[in-house]
Amino acid sequence: MDALHALHTRSSANLLCEPGPSKLQIDNIVKAGLRACDHRCLRPWRYLIIQGSARDSFGDLMVDVLQARDGAALDEKTKEKVKGKPQRAPTILVVIAKLTPHPSVPEIEQLLSAGASAQMMMTAAYAQGVGAIWRSGGIMFEEGLRQGLGLSENERLIGFIYLGTPKVSKPAPELDPDDFLSAWPAIPD
Ligand SMILES: Cc1cc2nc3c(=O)[nH]c(=O)nc-3n(C[C@H](O)[C@H](O)[C@H](O)COP(=O)(O)O)c2cc1C
Repeated sequence: MDALHALHTRSSANLLCEPGPSKLQIDNIVKAGLRACDHRCLRPWRYLIIQGSARDSFGDLMVDVLQARDGAALDEKTKEKVKGKPQRAPTILVVIAKLTPHPSVPEIEQLLSAGASAQMMMTAAYAQGVGAIWRSGGIMFEEGLRQGLGLSENERLIGFIYLGTPKVSKPAPELDPDDFLSAWPAIPD
């Protein structure tokens, strides 16, 4: 797919099924992530891949984290729902920001760079016909989840990119650039 076409029409795929992306498609997605803009080339990111039965372990981890947070308030129905979340896609990429103290690259710039990396991966998935959706949820900010996924003190979760075969195709909305772009200083009427 032409690059501009992919950039202009990318949309998320909420409903995903098997098969998941091939090794080549995953490599292409990760290679795109590695080309995100990156002040001082710190490479402030790394990624995890969760697929197959590892999704069961990820679901168990999420339940354990919520159990530790909510205790008895967590009912069986909610537990089952949370446990099943990783089954919504064959493959999940976890995008992690790796923050390094730097005199001219503040933390926010490194977080933005890791976020840009996730967006690059989203577009690379779409360009290859791989369905993708960037998911998060309040659980992302739980320390237990960070620990369970093996994040270090200097690392932050950016998001979960769910990948698979799209069940339905959703057209991108038509947005007018002029609604978002204006000259500075403002041009008087
Ligand atoms: C940081 C971030 C977190 C998100 N978390 C979720 C989420 O947890 N669940 C969800 O359905 N969509 C989430 N989204 C939104 C979807 O990924 C998607 O962008 C949105 O549904 C709009 O669809 P589109 O990408 O096709 O325009 C998140 C997006 C971002 C950037």
